[in-house]
Amino acid sequence: MSAVNLAIETGGIAFRNPILTASGTFGYGREFEGLTDLRALGGLVTKGISPKPRFGNATPRICETASGMLNSIGLENVGVEGFERDKLPYLRECGTRVLVNFFGATFDEYVDCGARLDALDGVDGLEMNVSCPNIKAGGIEFGTDPRVLRDLVRACRAAIRKPLWIKLTPNTSDIVALAVACAEGGADGLSIINTITGMAIDARTRRPKIATIFGGLSGPAIKPIALRMVYQVRRAGVSLPISGIGGIQDATDAIEFFLAGASTVQVGTQSFVDPDASGRIVRDLEARLAADGIHDVRELVGALVVK
Ligand code: SIN
Repeated sequence: MSAVNLAIETGGIAFRNPILTASGTFGYGREFEGLTDLRALGGLVTKGISPKPRFGNATPRICETASGMLNSIGLENVGVEGFERDKLPYLRECGTRVLVNFFGATFDEYVDCGARLDALDGVDGLEMNVSCPNIKAGGIEFGTDPRVLRDLVRACRAAIRKPLWIKLTPNTSDIVALAVACAEGGADGLSIINTITGMAIDARTRRPKIATIFGGLSGPAIKPIALRMVYQVRRAGVSLPISGIGGIQDATDAIEFFLAGASTVQVGTQSFVDPDASGRIVRDLEARLAADGIHDVRELVGALVVK
């Protein structure tokens, strides 16, 4: 047995370690079979699922930027039925915790989608997406007004028995108000942060690099903003556990998020650079803690020294 404990129970779920993969960067899990050992991960978060399948936005819908990338996928996904029929059988056997990211175009669709996914065996928890910047309805529009968000979380909470995490947008002037709204609505956890709205221009063609003009910026470029928001929510005393997301490339980045107050982290854009990034971070985290004489990863959560 390892001398270092990486296991953590948080947000209503017991994880073997705190390294998860972020929604939209890890497909439905199977895409990474043979590229990383899913059984070594703490968990994975699926692509966002809506009640019906979606084809997503026009292309091009992804481009590289300095220290990051922009995406405007438009929440392409197979829908609840397709997910249950084609994706879940593999996920039931994949050997790691499965959180299903979900969304709807209306209030009622959110509730309906969450309730249907909640009923499925093999789903350990749900992550509600109220933070996609790339679609007109059901993305960020429900996630920026604290009262609307509180009511939506409350309605979904009433329909969902499994752990319910809410993925927040950084495209706000008050992340704490959104976090408080989720706590009031009865959420079990927060995922902080989704992408930051940006754009990229091709100077030669004089055109935007992605078809929708604006997209969501992710990758190392956004890590300082993500750390700041995780820390702000923790410092404000919001009681919900936080899953930190934003530019995590290695074990040191993960540790920084733990210190800021996250109890798990989600690896996103780095999985496109290195499909084994999350597995490597698990291995390096264990080695790093052992070398530093830290016996339990939970010691790091919120342990930032500010004086
Ligand atoms: C997308 O599919 O456009 C991105 C999803 C998200 O940012 O939540």
